[in-house]
Amino acid sequence: MDSFYNILLHAHSGLRWLVLIALLVAIFQTFSKRGKFGDISETKSVLITFILTNLQFIVGLILYFISEKVQFNSNTMQNDIIRFFTVEHILMMVVAVALINIGYSRSKRATKPFNSAFNFYFIALILILISIPWPFRELGSGWF
Ligand code: HEM
Repeated sequence: MDSFYNILLHAHSGLRWLVLIALLVAIFQTFSKRGKFGDISETKSVLITFILTNLQFIVGLILYFISEKVQFNSNTMQNDIIRFFTVEHILMMVVAVALINIGYSRSKRATKPFNSAFNFYFIALILILISIPWPFRELGSGWF
């Protein structure tokens, strides 16, 4: 169980970089095509971001059930690290993942697909950046 946890934790930690890179590329590509008509499949990064973020969500959800940093007891709101992972991280990330899913599905139907993807992905990026347990936030997490 311990090594399963470690594998998932490293996968989740490393995937953050792939999610961020794909998201940044998608945002740049859709920004440069904003206002244009077309098909969202022209910007493959939009689909790649959608897949990677949902994968990250699944790994995060499994971690949520096995991590010691997720606890429901009188300590939950008192301890900064426990509160962050039990409440803040999951709430903000669920909203971010939902925005990416909405942005992706709207972009497939919209007449200006790049605008839809850009708007939703951009807000998701901000939420993700502020909800990652960056090492300087001293939440016990590393860079990789
Ligand atoms: C794009 C979405 C997400 C990103 C970029 C992200 C990123 C991260 C990062 C960088 C860590 C620290 C890993 C480490 O300590 O090395 C982490 C930890 C964690 N994440 Fe996420 N996460 C995301 C979504 C989620 C979601 C949706 C959930 C829950 C459903 C979740 C649950 C957790 C848990 C429980 C931990 C703590 C694991 C532990 O240290 O025991 N994450 N996340």
